Amino acid sequence: MTTSALLKTVDYEQPLRAADAPQAVNAVCTTKHAWARVPQEPSPTERAALKDKIRRLLKEKNAVMVSHFYVHPDLQDLAEETGGIVSDSLEMARFGRDHAASTLVVSGVRFMGETSKILSPHKRVLMPDLDATCSLDLGCPADDFSAFCDAHPDRTVVVYANTSAAVKARADWLVTSSCALEIVRALKDQGHKILWAPDRHLGGYIQRETGADMVMWGGSCIVHDEFKGFELEALMQEHPGAKVLVHPESPAAVVALADAVGSTSGILKAAREMDAKEFIVATDNGMMHKLRALNPGKTFIEAPTAGNSATCKSCAHCPWMAMNGLADVARMLESGANEIHVDPALRVRARVPIDRMLAFTAALKNGQVPGSLVAHIGAA
Ligand code: 13P
Ligand code: SF4
Repeated sequence: MTTSALLKTVDYEQPLRAADAPQAVNAVCTTKHAWARVPQEPSPTERAALKDKIRRLLKEKNAVMVSHFYVHPDLQDLAEETGGIVSDSLEMARFGRDHAASTLVVSGVRFMGETSKILSPHKRVLMPDLDATCSLDLGCPADDFSAFCDAHPDRTVVVYANTSAAVKARADWLVTSSCALEIVRALKDQGHKILWAPDRHLGGYIQRETGADMVMWGGSCIVHDEFKGFELEALMQEHPGAKVLVHPESPAAVVALADAVGSTSGILKAAREMDAKEFIVATDNGMMHKLRALNPGKTFIEAPTAGNSATCKSCAHCPWMAMNGLADVARMLESGANEIHVDPALRVRARVPIDRMLAFTAALKNGQVPGSLVAHIGAA
């Protein structure tokens, strides 16, 4: 069996020089303009008025809110309070597809809105800010990815949800962090060799856990990439009773220290079920809102992103998630602005791997055996 190979590397935070742009193989991204677009906190009066307006508009427009755990607490609470959902990216996709509303208001980042549109082409999908993207998506341009796939025709292409519709359209399977392990393990058990993109840390974690034969794209999440194993160990010594909860987009040294590794919903579940009073959490700090609300007697501490090698592009908060705000939700519900569109041909192709993931996870929930599912659903 071959081991994983990093065939693509991606640089972040370096401005793309115009002279390099035509030949640039690897995308680069800057967080500065995202931070500049993060909305100001409204005053208490403005906040209450905006929430009232959104509640009214949701009813008038037959709309439902679908929020990710990393967005502002107001958008999480309002989604739940009005019959929507706050969840991980897998449940966001499923909820949006199954809900009867004709408009989905997706608070998160662009790939989440695109996935919703692909699954619900007849629904209107609106987002507070269409420029809210993701370093994984930015770091995996469709043309380069397509060439990477062409170079490995014998491999089953497994792509993380944090990608563009065009990249999904090249995939055999889509995964999120809550189902990636099971899907890759099932594919491996059926004899598949994997081409994985774009997150090298999540891919590395899956490769170590499953022993699958994987070649990988070299992208990373700018938020999770900043968690530090060395500093985390020091913090653990200060809190010897604390359990460590880690999102698998984090580096291997951080994952190695975890008591539980999981998606955002996996982290929430572990915090509720684990018999500890203190937790150190290595994921976006937007997650703290729900963790604290659902576990009143427990203490949650952010895992360190600081230390000697700190760059603090994110300081444990995703700048693109932070671009979502109440005022933009109200504005786009009122005007219909910021609608997500996906090219129809691309949409049809990109839906195939997403449907496979949803069929796999639904069947798994119903107690079916993963290996047989791959063969049944159709691996490629
Ligand atoms: P989850 O699927 O775990 O919610 O993760 C989405 C994401 O963007 C994490 O950075
Ligand atoms: Fe992308 Fe990371 Fe932000 Fe999630 S937290 S949307 S993976 S940049």
